[in-house]
Amino acid sequence: MTELNNITLKIISNGKGILAADESTGTMTKRLETVNVSSTPENRLLFRETLFSSESMKKCIGGVILYDETIKQKSNLKKTISELISSSGTVPGIKVDTGAKTLAGSTDEKITEGLDGLRERLKEYYKLGARFTKWRGVYIISDKYPSKLSIHSNAHALARYAALVQESGMVPIIEPEVLMDGSHSSEDCFEKTSEVIKKCFEEIIINKIELSGIILKPNMILPGVSSKEKIDNKKIAELTLKCLKESVPSEVPGIAFLSGGQTEKEATKNLDLINKNNNTDFIMTYSYGRALQQSALKFWSQNVNNIKGTQETFNHRANMCTLAAQGKWSEELETK
Ligand code: 13P
Repeated sequence: MTELNNITLKIISNGKGILAADESTGTMTKRLETVNVSSTPENRLLFRETLFSSESMKKCIGGVILYDETIKQKSNLKKTISELISSSGTVPGIKVDTGAKTLAGSTDEKITEGLDGLRERLKEYYKLGARFTKWRGVYIISDKYPSKLSIHSNAHALARYAALVQESGMVPIIEPEVLMDGSHSSEDCFEKTSEVIKKCFEEIIINKIELSGIILKPNMILPGVSSKEKIDNKKIAELTLKCLKESVPSEVPGIAFLSGGQTEKEATKNLDLINKNNNTDFIMTYSYGRALQQSALKFWSQNVNNIKGTQETFNHRANMCTLAAQGKWSEELETK
């Protein structure tokens, strides 16, 4: 077993998943404003530190993805944030892309930037304690999109990023996110997501990436949010499994889904059904942002001094997701 494979398995084995707490300051500001909390560095740290020191970190959370600001902050408990996270046996990670910008040649689409100077930034993050990283490519579905240009350019960037990350001794999360926005069908989502993922692996192989030392972070196969299609959760699980089975090389140890705008419960239920029907060798787990933090953030915003209550709210969500990652979740457990 290589060191990269070791790190990968430490993050995603035994029902553990990933807490995506890597919202940029802009996105975090929007999230905090919706619950009427002012977005100061202290408030951003306080909320995140509350989650990072909760009980479920040991049992449920194998890795935390941080944003540049957070990994450089000192915890109020006099530790660095990486030390705080590692003290639960959880692996600290870092988002290293610098965001999605307009794609020249297809101005409705985006290309993710951040390759320039990446090798040097990775060295710095390694020193700060990070052992895995994230880079997100985004794709839209419509009659003409995603274009070949967007599929090709983002796959190329993801693969070059992954090569640099493995060179620096860290595990890359490869996140090609086909967005839920739009009125497309689940069939469209299946087709486009398959094309996107296959292209990513073509580039990954050209770039000589060690497949046992990566985590793929895809979307589930869902109809667009404005689509009228009625689909049951079992069908979502079936399509998602089919897509990944056909598009991902079997050497990849694990897949950690993004929640992408699903409610906490939908994201949990879908993951549970994926695991109850998992006919692949991939570990299937979660790497949720909103679907892990939403209710904890709401609770905290109404009770900022109630750290224990905020942690209990988060613990419940993390427990549900970890049960789903083992195919052991049920509706009744939600209300217990
Ligand atoms: P969501 O689970 O909120 O989609 O966030 C996951 C993520 O990391 C997006 O890049």
